[in-house]
Order: sequence, then structure tokens, then C-alpha cells
Amino acid sequence: MKSGLKISILMAISVNGMVADQYDQVPWTKPIWSEYYKYVQSSGALVVGRRTLDLMTTTDELDKLRKVKIAVLTRTVQASHDNLAYFSLPTQIVEYFQNQGFSHIVVGGGPKTNSLFLKAGLVDELVLDTFPIILTSTGKLLFNSTCDTELPKFLEPTHSKDLENGCVRTYYIFR
Ligand SMILES: NC(=O)c1ccc[n+]([C@@H]2O[C@H](COP(=O)([O-])OP(=O)(O)OC[C@H]3O[C@@H](n4cnc5c(N)ncnc54)[C@H](OP(=O)(O)O)[C@@H]3O)[C@@H](O)[C@H]2O)c1
Repeated sequence: MKSGLKISILMAISVNGMVADQYDQVPWTKPIWSEYYKYVQSSGALVVGRRTLDLMTTTDELDKLRKVKIAVLTRTVQASHDNLAYFSLPTQIVEYFQNQGFSHIVVGGGPKTNSLFLKAGLVDELVLDTFPIILTSTGKLLFNSTCDTELPKFLEPTHSKDLENGCVRTYYIFR
């Protein structure tokens, strides 16, 4: 069902594996966000969880992604509007983008959504922007317990590059 389509999880992360603090706040700097938008825009297709969408609507992030189609994972599906479409299953999201001819989908969090995609065996690549900071251990991990039954998973780093502010982007594929 997924042939010819690549699915990447893209996340900014602290060196101790946190993607946000306990209040959903993130410390990433502007250049890191620019790299995030560049990557998402090159795909044109973004998946976010409903909680992440809510957080994005409190900032100007959605404006920067106006040309990107966004699929939202939620248990309460509502009618599509603007560039947003709502789904209750990862497989429905894959089918939606595949039907529109996309060849690359970016899953942009949060941990619950990442975990549901991983658990469904849909992820080909993990792209981590590691920011030189240690966040409190009560923060949010990259994956939550939803996908524990599928772990461990072995990854192979394919390449990495330096971003600004001491941040390093590493690309991993699933073995
Ligand atoms: N560092 C980064 O790059 C980055 C990127 C994105 C987000 N974040 C952080 O991630 C955190 C948010 O992540 P999160 O894990 O709390 O939430 P999330 O993945 O953004 O969204 C979770 C939502 O998914 C829906 N959902 C849950 N179980 C489901 C199921 N079985 N089937 C279908 N839909 C289901 C629910 O929506 P409904 O409640 O509507 O049903 C739930 O509220 C925030 O702290 C944010 O700052 C960090």
C-alpha cells in the first residue's frame, strides 16, 4: 500500500532525548525552525497530532506552512478546511497523500503521533535535529510508551550535517 512513498519523522530534540519540556515548551532557535520549515516545504506533506496542531495555532507557524498540506491525527475527525485534513488512522493519512501523488511525507510529531506511525510500521526514516541542551526529565520523549511493544528498533545513521547554533541534523534509516 505504501510502495513508492517515503515517510520521515522529523523532530528537534535535546541531547537527552526530549522534544519539549513538561509545559510543551521548546527552546529551539530561529535557524533551527527555518531548517524545519525548509525540510517540510520540500516534501509538501506534513502530519501532526491534534495537540501539536493546537500548539502551532498559538504561533505563526501555520502561516509559514500555507503551501503545505497538513494531515492531523485525531480521534475526533472533522471536515477539512484550508490546508488541513483530519484522520483517525495513520494508514488513512498515507492513503490520502498517496492519492494526491506525494512521494514523501513528513511526520512532525508529537510523541504520540510519532509512536502511532512507528507502531504501524510506516516509518522509513528518522531525521533528528539535536540541539545542545539538556531538558528536564519530566519533559516529552521523542516516542511515548504507545510503541513500546515494537522496541527495540535498530537504526542506521546515513549522514549528518551541522546546522546553526551547535545543532546537528542526523538522518537514520530503519534496518
Ligand atoms: N521537538 C519537536 O520537533 C516537536 C514537534 C512537534 C511537537 N512537539 C511537542 O510534542 C508535544 C505534543 O505531542 P503529544 O504526543 O502530546 O501529542 P500529539 O502527537 O501532537 O497529538 C496527540 C493527539 O493524537 C490523537 N490520538 C491519540 N491517540 C490516537 C489514536 N489511537 N488514534 C487516532 N488519534 C489519536 C489525539 O487527538 P484528539 O485528542 O483530538 O483525539 C491526541 O490528542 C508538545 O509538547 C510539543 O511541543 C515537539
